[in-house]
This record gives sequence, C-alpha cells and structure tokens, in this order.
Amino acid sequence: MITGKYPSLRLRRSRKYAWSRRLVQENSLSYSDLILPIFLIEGKNKKESINSMPNVFRYSVDKIHTVVNKAIKKGIPMVALFPHTKTKKKDEYGSEALNPDNLVCRGIKFIKKKFKNKIGIMCDVALDPYTSHGHDGLLKKKNILNDETLEILAKQAVLQAKMGCDVIAPSDMMDGRIGMIRKALDKNNLYDVQILSYAVKFSSSFYGPFRDAVGSKKLLKGDKKTYQMDFRNSDESLREVSLDIKEGSDMVMVKPGMPYLDIIKKVKDNFKIPVLAYQVSGEYSLIMNGINKKLIDKESIKESLISFKRAGASSIVTYFADQIDL
Ligand code: PBG
Repeated sequence: MITGKYPSLRLRRSRKYAWSRRLVQENSLSYSDLILPIFLIEGKNKKESINSMPNVFRYSVDKIHTVVNKAIKKGIPMVALFPHTKTKKKDEYGSEALNPDNLVCRGIKFIKKKFKNKIGIMCDVALDPYTSHGHDGLLKKKNILNDETLEILAKQAVLQAKMGCDVIAPSDMMDGRIGMIRKALDKNNLYDVQILSYAVKFSSSFYGPFRDAVGSKKLLKGDKKTYQMDFRNSDESLREVSLDIKEGSDMVMVKPGMPYLDIIKKVKDNFKIPVLAYQVSGEYSLIMNGINKKLIDKESIKESLISFKRAGASSIVTYFADQIDL
C-alpha cells in the first residue's frame, strides 16, 4: 500500500537550493581548464580589433604583457600564440615560418623573458599563416604535398621549441607529422618539450573568423578537405588519435568544439590520454554576436564551456578565457 503522495522519488529535491545543487554537481569549470589564444601583429604599441571577432584583438609583441599578466593572475595555465603575418612576408613555401625573428618567435621570447615559467606557451605548427595560398602545407599543382611539408614542419617545431615554446601543437593534419616532430625535437635535445597534436581536426566552416584574424581568409585557394577530416566521420577520429599516440603525442585535441562533443567523448572513452577541446573562432563569434544582440544571456558562455568538461575534455582553448568571471 503506497501511503505518501506519488511520486516517491523527486529529482527536484536536490535542485531546490543553490547549496544542494552545488553538492551534487558533477562537473565544474575553473581557470585551470582554459587556454587563451593571443593574436600577434607587427609594430609597436598596437591593439587592433578584428571585424569578425568582437572583443578579440591583435596585439603587437610589446603590448602582450598586460594580457599575459592578467591570464597568470587568473590562473590560466597556458596561452596559444597566433601570428598575423603581413602579406608581403608570405610566399608559396611559407618561408617566414622558419625565420627566427618572426612574430611568434619574438612573442615566445618576450613572454619567457618577462614571466619565466609562470605560464605555458603553446604554438601551432602549420604553414597557413605564412603561405601566399593559405594552405597548411606546400602546394603543387592543386595538391598539398605531405612528406615535403613534414620536413619544414619539423624545422618549424624545433625553432619554436628552441625559442622557449613549451607545447608544440601541430595543426596541419599531414600524415606522420607527430613522429617526425618528436624525432626532430629529441635529436635537438628538446625531449622535455611536449606535443599537443590537433589529432582530430575537421575541415570546418567554423574557422572563418580565425582565418580573417590571421589574414589568410582572402588568400586561401580552395578548401582543406584533402587533409582535414570529413565531418561526416567519427570512427576515423580513433584511427587518427591512435596513430598520434604511437608517434609520441602527449595530449590530443579535438577541433572544432561544440559540434563535436560526441567525438571528445568517444576519444576519451577509448584512450586514457588528456583530450583538449578547441572552441573555435566561429563558435566564439556566434555566441558573442548572440550576446551582443541580447538574443542569449552571458551565462551561455559558461554553459558552452561546461559542455566540454562533461564530454571529457581536460581543458579548452577558448577566446572567452580572459573575458569570463569564474
Ligand atoms: C591553422 C589553424 C586554424 C585554426 C587554428 N589553427 C585554421 C585552419 O585550419 O584553417 C582555427 C582556429 C579557430 O577557428 O579559432 N592550421
């Protein structure tokens, strides 16, 4: 005989007060979970806005100390540096990638000199900010050359590591790059430098604002479908990750973020390796425009970031990192 009122189990009980919601919460978000991307430009004392990314700026190297200092104070563990290279410095081989005095190299040196090891520095390994055709590798008769590109990427990685970069992040999606880069780093006694592979990077429309930010959008010839993954695929991501682990990757990234939460979960369920997520520029701008137009609340930012934690991500690269209050 049921005496009490139906139902006997009421899940709303634990939701009644803020303290009891906190008591049963399964995931949380802190600054330790975030990585802040920083766009660099040539010049002095410059802070330039980016049309496609409201509230995100490009800074000249001498101006980044405020941004980095703020990140350290908040407890953000790492920044990611991206260069806006002048068109006249771009060529078909992406030669500027190997210039020891390029923007990224100067940025690394500046941060390491000022802040030592108080914050980690991560740098992309790929040629797209430096090539006149906007591709991540060498272009020959409409083909992106794989093995020829690897030679350059290995040199780019060694150069960045020598400058003081802590985490080398190949985002080019060439086959075999992790192994090549690991060997090159070790050969140069840079065995403590970590590799974060953009192992699962989809050919995505959500990179649009980023390409504008680094100045490769108008230059890009065609698309990146012959090297970045087809967004219709899921199992293939496990093949990519297993290869990169074998080749020596310390961490792996899934990119973009929100449309690919299933992939983050799948990778995390199958491999016990740190999986990072990249909430890319298109995702950022969509949310930011929604907030600016008052279509959605600012809380949507936290909601979006927690979704990555729920899916299993260890941390998230996000342009919101220095904008949210946690
Ligand atoms: C370059 C690179 C891209 C992003 C990070 N590194 C763009 C691309 O592959 O075209 C995208 C980041 C973003 O959209 O926020 N290899």
